[in-house]
Amino acid sequence: MSEQDGRPKGDSTRVVAAGRRPGWTQGIVNPPVWRASTILYDSVAELRAAGGRDTHHRLFYGRRGTPTQWSLADALTDLEPGAEATFLYPSGVAAIAAALLSVLSPGDELLLPDSAYDPTRSMATGLLKRMGIATRFYDPLIGAGIAGMIGEQTRAIFMESPGSLTFEVQDVPAIVAAAKARGIVTLLDNTWATPLFFPAIERGIDLSILACTKYIVGHSDVMLGSVTAAPGHFAKLRDTSFQLGQIASPDDCWLGSRGLRTLAIRLAQHQSSALTIAHWLKQQPGVGAVFHPALPDCPGHDLFQRDFKGSTGLFSFTLENATEEARAALIDGLEHFGIGYSWGGFESLALPVDPARYRTATKRRDAGLLVRLQIGIEDPDDLIADLDAGLGRCRAALA
Ligand SMILES: Cc1ncc(COP(=O)(O)O)c(C=O)c1O
Repeated sequence: MSEQDGRPKGDSTRVVAAGRRPGWTQGIVNPPVWRASTILYDSVAELRAAGGRDTHHRLFYGRRGTPTQWSLADALTDLEPGAEATFLYPSGVAAIAAALLSVLSPGDELLLPDSAYDPTRSMATGLLKRMGIATRFYDPLIGAGIAGMIGEQTRAIFMESPGSLTFEVQDVPAIVAAAKARGIVTLLDNTWATPLFFPAIERGIDLSILACTKYIVGHSDVMLGSVTAAPGHFAKLRDTSFQLGQIASPDDCWLGSRGLRTLAIRLAQHQSSALTIAHWLKQQPGVGAVFHPALPDCPGHDLFQRDFKGSTGLFSFTLENATEEARAALIDGLEHFGIGYSWGGFESLALPVDPARYRTATKRRDAGLLVRLQIGIEDPDDLIADLDAGLGRCRAALA
């Protein structure tokens, strides 16, 4: 743990302390749920004085939040060294939408990696297109080559690293450098790494986005999103979000704050179990590539080693020469893995995924059907025994 400005910097200490202001809680450990729509004023003069665009940390109207939301927003800002402030949203997708709408106008162009989360793609090809905003998809491994894609109308470059489903690690510093040279805003979906393993604002990103639904909440029971802004980028984000009427519910933010306190120890367990299982899988007959950023099979593995402070619990692997039925036989019989989409909770999940169905700028670099795993905090030996039996079912279906 190092000290800077008198503030502790160890991950566990930071998540325990972040956003807990005694002035708001009056001694209560976690900020309680403050629910509000109406705020009452003692006089017309007080009512007039309360408003304005910037009601930061002042009670004004329910949609501007209460200490429950401010505390979580401040905590997420604290976790991103160099950040100005954070806005919270009722889901990760809502956070992505507000971030993009805060920087793009009709006639602008957005650059989006081919490996972006599918609903982010749909937002670009649906909502943004309808508003006259064009999107060009790029190879997530383009690195400094992004400079060649920046055109007269390009206003924003979006990144997601590692990418959804196939986990390509992007050269964020190279893309940020190319964007800064042309005055272009950069956005990063940092949900996989969280600020603990990739401090996005420190690495030059302007808007760092989290689906807090995943690791921040950590218990698979709340939808929540956040955008943390670098200095100079928050006012537009805040104004756009106010105009869109965005507000995350105090109950959900309270659960988000509760989840946050254990983020560092949960991630440590996700990291260690996922690494154990990824290395084990790589040795198994019938398993092809293992797309875990910390393993050499993963495109951009060297960048992961250079830029990240740790890895989390989500990765994918290919099955050699398998059929749909064999992949389903593996997944259907698993005892400790649920079959479901939203990851980042304490429990393990397995999912058949087929990115080739919708990617447009890149071809699959590997062969074989893909399985995505979210490794939860169960005992890794139990998960390995479960997967071992699953691979046996897969081989039997192919025999
Ligand atoms: C990388 C990534 N970003 C964003 C989201 C969207 O988050 P939410 O489900 O909270 O809208 C997801 C959800 O799976 C995701 O995997």
